[in-house]
Amino acid sequence: MDKMIIHGGVALKGKVALSGSKNAALPIIMASVLTADPVIIGNVPRLRDVRTAVDLLVRLGVQARWIGEHELELRAREITSHEAPYELVKTMRASFVALGPLLARTGRARVSTPGGCAIGARPVNLHIAGIRALGARIQLRNGYVEARAPHLCGARVWLDSPSVGATENIMMAAVLAKGTTLIENAAREPEVQDLARMLAAMGARIEGVGTHVIEIGGVERLHGTQHRVIPDRIEAGSLMVAAAITGGDLTIEDAPADQLGAVVEKLRETGVEISTHGGGLRVTANAPLRPVELRTLPYPGFPTDLQAQMMALLTQSSGTSVITETIFENRFMHALELLRMGADIVMKGPTAVVRGPSHLSGAPVMATDLRASMSLILAGLAADNETEVSRVYHLDRGYEALDAKLRSVGARIDRVPA
Ligand code: UD1
Repeated sequence: MDKMIIHGGVALKGKVALSGSKNAALPIIMASVLTADPVIIGNVPRLRDVRTAVDLLVRLGVQARWIGEHELELRAREITSHEAPYELVKTMRASFVALGPLLARTGRARVSTPGGCAIGARPVNLHIAGIRALGARIQLRNGYVEARAPHLCGARVWLDSPSVGATENIMMAAVLAKGTTLIENAAREPEVQDLARMLAAMGARIEGVGTHVIEIGGVERLHGTQHRVIPDRIEAGSLMVAAAITGGDLTIEDAPADQLGAVVEKLRETGVEISTHGGGLRVTANAPLRPVELRTLPYPGFPTDLQAQMMALLTQSSGTSVITETIFENRFMHALELLRMGADIVMKGPTAVVRGPSHLSGAPVMATDLRASMSLILAGLAADNETEVSRVYHLDRGYEALDAKLRSVGARIDRVPA
């Protein structure tokens, strides 16, 4: 298994470009199942999770072809299998959003349930309840959700919590249903909005996207389209923290400032300067960092996917910071590794108290999930000596060419193949 070796202590300076959003690309790739026409998707990040999604589609009978470094052509002329197997869903939970489009296109689907996850239970009850409300007969058998629905019908669906995946799954099931579907308490994340734009470009009738109520008027058929995936706001936020934690000066090109409001506010509270610069954001850190209180929330609140990175940063603030994780119940695994590097963090239930500034010293550390691995890279950038992050495959799920990007702005980071 590859490792990343980091020699910290360099202030990162320069410009860095973002890749396309992983969390937008995955459901958008699945949406290709909804039409027999070709769809062309641009700005697709070359990530392990994207490869898993494409592998899944190929198994369903979809023709997939990279027609450019970041451009993917998909054609689901005929669906030859209805099954998303366990071995793919267990490596990537987002495979579960194949359920909605498969069912809508063919009237049946057999999708493995994802099982446990390093950051929390992450059940799929809301996905299932929503799709059932549209008239599907659903059985749970042998670890699989087996769904049949010769005709999906529009319905009113209330989500107990604004789940991103459930909103996407139900939206994709509803676009070809008969009649109107209302998803209430829907997720408002920019990635849900990007999927809705793609579906609208395919001929779907969707209103209210970006609000708590999404209304979908079912249509008979969808057609092919071209779509460009939005830039990755989580990668942007991670790089902003990289500038902050190294006392650097980074311009993050094309950073979607309008989607990063809560992140910009929190970073400013720590004393980091942030300004809009061309089409992106410039992050300059040259004063001592201040502590903050932080609570993860559904969009537009502070994203849980940047909590681990912020924890690494707050180990460098002078004073006591408090982080409350409200989305996932077990998302502090990175804290245990940060402790090994010299951080002072006390966890109690959903809250972590971070006292700083701590002198971080390089250590061999192990990534437990995608965002946790990024927080360890960030800590390594601020640590003295050598930090060795193992289980880099977690990083490959969501950060494209991260070591090369960091090296281009001065970081001393190398990937060591197994
Ligand atoms: C998506 C993102 C992930 C991000 C998360 C929250 C993708 C591929 N992944 O994950 O990076 O961290 O949103 O912003 O887009 N829940 C239920 N029942 C359900 C579904 C969800 O109880 O049926 C709970 C989950 O356990 C969790 C919360 O709702 O506590 C939020 O999960 P959800 O928004 O569904 O996250 P994902 O779509 O899995």
